[in-house]
Amino acid sequence: MRTHKCGELNKQQLGSTVTINGWVHRRRDHGGVIFIDLRDRAGLVQVVVDPDVAEAFATAEHVRSEYVLAITGIVRDRPQGTVNPNMISGEIEILAKHIEVLNESETPPFPIESEIEVNEELRLKYRYIDLRRVAMQEKMKVRRDVTRMLRNFLDDHEFFEIETPYLTKATPEGARDYIVPSRTHENAFFALPQSPQLYKQILMVAGMDRYYQVVRCFRDEDLRADRQPEFTQLDIETSFMNEDEIMTVMEEMIRQLFAKVINVDLDAKFPRMSYQEAVSRFGIDRPDLRIPLELVDIADDMKAVDFKVFSAPANDPKGRVAALRVPNGGEKLSRKDIEDLTKYVSIYGAKGLAYIKVNDLSAGIEGLQSPIVKFAPAEVWSSVLAKTGAQDGDLIFFGADKASIVNEAMGALRVKLGHDLNLLQGEWKPVWVVDFPMFDWDEKTGRYNAIHHPFTAPSCSVEELVANPGTALSRAYDLVLNGTEVGGGSIRINRPAMQSTVFEILGIGEEEAREKFGFLLDALKYGAPPHGGLAFGLDRLVMLMTGSTSIRDVIAFPKTQSAACPLVSAPAVVTDEQLKELGIRLIKPAGKEKA
Ligand code: AMO
Ligand code: AMP
Repeated sequence: MRTHKCGELNKQQLGSTVTINGWVHRRRDHGGVIFIDLRDRAGLVQVVVDPDVAEAFATAEHVRSEYVLAITGIVRDRPQGTVNPNMISGEIEILAKHIEVLNESETPPFPIESEIEVNEELRLKYRYIDLRRVAMQEKMKVRRDVTRMLRNFLDDHEFFEIETPYLTKATPEGARDYIVPSRTHENAFFALPQSPQLYKQILMVAGMDRYYQVVRCFRDEDLRADRQPEFTQLDIETSFMNEDEIMTVMEEMIRQLFAKVINVDLDAKFPRMSYQEAVSRFGIDRPDLRIPLELVDIADDMKAVDFKVFSAPANDPKGRVAALRVPNGGEKLSRKDIEDLTKYVSIYGAKGLAYIKVNDLSAGIEGLQSPIVKFAPAEVWSSVLAKTGAQDGDLIFFGADKASIVNEAMGALRVKLGHDLNLLQGEWKPVWVVDFPMFDWDEKTGRYNAIHHPFTAPSCSVEELVANPGTALSRAYDLVLNGTEVGGGSIRINRPAMQSTVFEILGIGEEEAREKFGFLLDALKYGAPPHGGLAFGLDRLVMLMTGSTSIRDVIAFPKTQSAACPLVSAPAVVTDEQLKELGIRLIKPAGKEKA
């Protein structure tokens, strides 16, 4: 139907007759001459329709935005002064000889302009219009480039792409399952996989050596900008590689990815940081290392002060008292800013946000301006100031509470200040976070939870694990980029005894373990090789690489905050027949709910 794409045309085709197909991006009637900007995936080209080509002119007179046209014409230079250097086709235009309307279009619900803000619900309902916008086309292209490059890399490194089932059994990754009723097995349900974790481990037992899959995962969890109920992983598993070897290959892959797709050179070696160091310095296990602010522990100084707010958590083994120095914060942050920041940290459960303005260090306590200076003697403050490295003009914030609250609140404050005060250093800061604890203690249920999944190997023996589950470390690793967890994985347990021990510690009894994971325990008995792997959040990688603020922008058909698809109106009711066939009766039948 066409000889060229619109956005590809340039001086090379000067003088030749071309046929292009595309959408009317804009039509301008310059009294006598009509200009049409025709758009396809490759971009825009300007078409000129002269009145002396009567038939084409008559057609051009009634075309409107988003009509689909086939235009045949001659490529010629644009007149002097009308060259547009921002377009590939900006030096030329097409003099139309023939125009055919391939289809008409109603006025679209919003303009096809990347710069115009449109309500997201509307964008998702008319996603086919939204995806026509140049910004969205570019994101889809980066996504295509990313998966293609990753596949090429893994193919070159002898990984097999193998598909695993979507209709399966629950895989615990910490979210709720999406379940699917089975018609052929009464009262039984499939679960959609939260990840292909157990299948990929079984592929290693099966001798597949190196596996990968670009795979959809399903998790019914609270949604955020970087979380979707169905999302895509680049899922990887290998045999006979230790964590260092795995991280090294994966680092190389990510480096090549950034270099080839967005022309960015990442560090030659990604730094590694223990979980404990990350939480202690940044309050979080996915630190954004572009932000040059750090938490400093000052509990030792606060144990004996006459200020309960600080002394109580300082003396509580589960408490934390931390300071965050903001260089020149005294000038940059007004009283009103501090009030707003106090409100901000309260979202994370902080009961207040104490601060000290360092006006003049040489003046001792007189040089400090703060509602809390009076609560402790001068030597306490001089020790605190020394620990934070305070300088004249700085502002120091304090958080005191349960460690989890201080970490969340001060960690979030650090990120907010980093962005608000434009403190970011460098564009890309990857870091591997390692040495995670195996478990964390859940106060509510009085049980241990797995920090990664229950198939992650500890870095100690069965005996040591049983003796000290609370302090045992795992052989897990997360890749964090600019404060986003883009991937994570571990060396797995490959012996049945260790796997059963971990289930026990997690409060999964023998019977339950057999029922849920009997197939895994069996597989581990038949020569399971040492194996490990990881999964990258593909949507998150593409989000970062395209500078998008949400993963919804890099997914062609994402779900809304309430996990619905406005385009096709899913989820939807099903017929009574379907329910009957499945043996399902609704507690609140459709229709009655609304009445
Ligand atoms: P994990 O649960 O850490 O590990 O997931 C791996 C990566 O997937 C991305 N991710 C998500 N992206 C979008 N929406 C979500 N709801 C979502 N949840 C996770 C993150 C994360 O780093 N089976 C293990 C991997 C392994 O051990 O090999 C797993 O799924 O970027
Ligand atoms: P108060 O004596 O409660 O008025 O608190 C004095 C200062 O300490 C105020 O600036 C509060 O914002 C701050 N503050 C109160 N509770 C905490 C807390 N848990 N962590 C940090 N600062 C706090």
